[in-house]
Amino acid sequence: MREQDKHMSEMPLSAAADMPPEAQARYSAFMQRKVTQLQQELLQIDAYQARIEKLDASMTARLHELTVGVFWPHRAADLDLMLELGTGYVALDEIDRPLSSAMSCRVGDDYAMLGMMVTTPRLQAQGTGRRLLRRVMADCLGRDLRLSATRSGYRLYQDAGFVPVGLIYQHQGVVRPIHAPAPMSGLEIRPFDPHTDLAALRALDTHAYGAARDVMMDAFLARSETVVAWRDGAMAGFGSMRNFGKGKVIGPLVAEQDEMAMHLAAHFLMQNAGQFIRLDTLVQSERFGAFLAAAGMGVFDTVTEMRLGRLRRAITGPLTYGLAMQSLG
Ligand SMILES: CC(C)(COP(=O)(O)OP(=O)(O)OC[C@H]1O[C@@H](n2cnc3c(N)ncnc32)[C@H](O)[C@@H]1OP(=O)(O)O)[C@@H](O)C(=O)NCCC(=O)NCCS
Repeated sequence: MREQDKHMSEMPLSAAADMPPEAQARYSAFMQRKVTQLQQELLQIDAYQARIEKLDASMTARLHELTVGVFWPHRAADLDLMLELGTGYVALDEIDRPLSSAMSCRVGDDYAMLGMMVTTPRLQAQGTGRRLLRRVMADCLGRDLRLSATRSGYRLYQDAGFVPVGLIYQHQGVVRPIHAPAPMSGLEIRPFDPHTDLAALRALDTHAYGAARDVMMDAFLARSETVVAWRDGAMAGFGSMRNFGKGKVIGPLVAEQDEMAMHLAAHFLMQNAGQFIRLDTLVQSERFGAFLAAAGMGVFDTVTEMRLGRLRRAITGPLTYGLAMQSLG
């Protein structure tokens, strides 16, 4: 085996330390496939001769065509944000129609989130997703990886060496009027002040998310209304809400426990009765789930968070109660 191929197919030691041996073996088998440089740029999908191109900021419409084709709710502006924060590939046919896509969003020098994996339905299960996934994984060599796997993607990611972290519950619906949760002693919910609160907010998110995603957070904050949970002179949690998909999304939302998460979410829900709102949560809490359902946001779907490399999400202290977006965590 060439040195370069060997390098690609061995899981970096930092990642391997925290992965079961079967997953490491699946990773090696997945990454080992040798493709020449020319083959890397070309792809035969059914009757189509496709070429693989790097995604750039001018490709929103193509990405949108793909996501609409698999009934994802993203607006063009949501995809602009993805293209601003991440990089990736699109397979295009001879007349530039998009057939498949995959992206990574790299954070710091040791972590990346993968997402936007879509193959147009009539061309699925022909090896395109596998090819593009291998490519984005090769771009992220040495980084811990995470993604949100739908049912149709799960097997592919498992084959690539990913292991499950937990279920993400996608709550959504038209919000019903709710009563304010019972007050929490000493807790104040107030607007985020970028001049005084930014460092504390970043520190909370870094703990809960497991990586310092300052650029991503700045992009969310610029598009969001954000409130913080203040207690004993310090920030204990925060929540953001921005336009997304069919309405709005609450996330990121970081809180110490259910009650604080409910207070932060209630701030937005009480002002938005009658609006379509979504919240994707990883926290397995019946209480928080029941609170959202009572507000009109039942569980619409579930996906599985998967990782390759270290488990980086916090399991103690402040937790991520609301994701910013499944493709970004
Ligand atoms: C997930 C997805 C991107 C895979 O792309 P693809 O081009 O079909 O991928 P491949 O052809 O390389 O197939 C990879 C594996 O997924 C399986 N697969 C593909 N489409 C599937 C589907 N709709 N349902 C279940 N499994 C599916 C294939 O059978 C294959 O498994 P195998 O190698 O064990 O036979 C594609 O199914 C898709 O766009 N799904 C809808 C959008 C989505 O859910 N994206 C995933 C986000 S995490």
